[in-house]
Amino acid sequence: MNFEIQKRSLLSVTQGELDGLMILWPAATLPDTAAKDPISRLLAGACKKGDFELKPNCTLALYAHPEIKARHVVVVCSADNTPAAVRAAMQAAWSCLKSFKIKHLGIHAVGECPAHSIQAALVSLAEATYSYGTTLSQPKLRSLKQVQVSLASVQADAVDSVAYAQALISGIEVAKEWANRPANHATPTHLAQAAQNIATGRSFKCEVLGPKEVAKLGMGAFMAVAQGASEPLRFIVMRYNGAAAAQAPVVLVGKGITFDTGGISIKPAPEMDEMKYDMSGAASVLGVFKALGEIRPSINVVGLIPATENMPDGLAVKPGDVVTSMSGQTIEILNTDAEGRLVLCDALTYAERFKPKAVIDIATLTGACVIALGAVRSGLFSSNDPLAQEIFQAGETSGDACWRMPLDDDYAEGLKSKFADVANVAGRAAGSVTAAKFLQRFAKSFAWAHLDIAGTAWRSGAAKGATGRPVGLLLQYLVSAAKTTPQKSAKAKAKVKPKSA
Ligand code: BES
Ligand code: MN
Ligand code: ZN
Repeated sequence: MNFEIQKRSLLSVTQGELDGLMILWPAATLPDTAAKDPISRLLAGACKKGDFELKPNCTLALYAHPEIKARHVVVVCSADNTPAAVRAAMQAAWSCLKSFKIKHLGIHAVGECPAHSIQAALVSLAEATYSYGTTLSQPKLRSLKQVQVSLASVQADAVDSVAYAQALISGIEVAKEWANRPANHATPTHLAQAAQNIATGRSFKCEVLGPKEVAKLGMGAFMAVAQGASEPLRFIVMRYNGAAAAQAPVVLVGKGITFDTGGISIKPAPEMDEMKYDMSGAASVLGVFKALGEIRPSINVVGLIPATENMPDGLAVKPGDVVTSMSGQTIEILNTDAEGRLVLCDALTYAERFKPKAVIDIATLTGACVIALGAVRSGLFSSNDPLAQEIFQAGETSGDACWRMPLDDDYAEGLKSKFADVANVAGRAAGSVTAAKFLQRFAKSFAWAHLDIAGTAWRSGAAKGATGRPVGLLLQYLVSAAKTTPQKSAKAKAKVKPKSA
């Protein structure tokens, strides 16, 4: 899908060569009966007859109107032009158009439309037109190719928001693709190949470690999870250097369990297929890197992905086994199904070497987080107030929201072990918090935050599939962070990209 933005009047969009046209009409704007453009006049008439109401998400569909070039037209009322209203209106409008083969769509926003709302409109259109196809013999390809956004007046930030949306959508779709793929099409080796494909070109690096290197590093917790799997583990290190080398990077750590059976503490059969999305944290890191390549912000970012399956096997780790993590702390593995924290703790220790500005881990970590927050907000855990605030704000701005959870030390009581420094599980109470308390032990030497995305990365039921969250939140956080850090010098920039005469 390709986006462009233009300054156009409501009259001029009706003259555009388009297959479909969507008009976003704010509820507070009364259509003018005597307007020059046919849409205002039509709408005024429909309102008068009681056939259209200026109420949020009401739609009016037209076909082959003699005064409008686009064959399919939908007027949709948006409450106001805020991001949330525009998102809802777009969904309503697209449901009127989705059965037609529309290649070139126009979206015209009537009145003021802030940059964030334009972004929200495009992201929500991408969401509505996405379909997974990789393992289907006859995938439904997206027919929509070109989207032309138009407004009566186009500010510079609107142009930026379209470019940003384009990058964000490619990131979201990378994340969806990998989380949706069945585990036999998304092994640790496949993830590493994907990382290498994304991290090509200027300012990128990618290094993939295998079982030997990981053993050498002493990642005993990660290796314990992987020892039951026949698929070899991978530890993926991605780097994006958009700023001076001296600038401390943000490290993103994504849980990459390509399938979680639970191991010897095996999960029940119903819905176990959904545990293919237990690498959604990793998928979100891949998605963010994809988008970074398109936006190219002045910031340094490291992506770390510990990837393995969690399988039951004769060689699998057993409940009660004690292993030594890379940090030196010993861990009693009381439940092999609490494997996410085991792969993450070694990745967190590995993150120390980057002297990071901040480390954010992203994980489908606990069923308890689904119970606590559902599919609406991701769980945010952080011992660092400013970092927590920035991440929370990025969630609000992007519409990919999270909610801060507590980290009182009293929650760590249940993790005490007689046989090791720490146990990998506590009781059933506050399961998402005790998981975070476990991780916190390995994140003492930097500003750290943890996002539990078990509820938000995946949709169950009829619309089953990956959501691409929290790519929107992470990208927003990184781009905001880039704005508050010094830029590369003009000279350094010129060296990378010479200006054409
Ligand atoms: N990947 C699961 C968490 C999960 C559960 C994600 C449901 C999405 C939906 C994780 O590895 C896990 O199994 N966690 C256990 C922890 C427990 C053994 C302490 C859980 O949440 O039940
Ligand atoms: Mn598990
Ligand atoms: Zn898991």
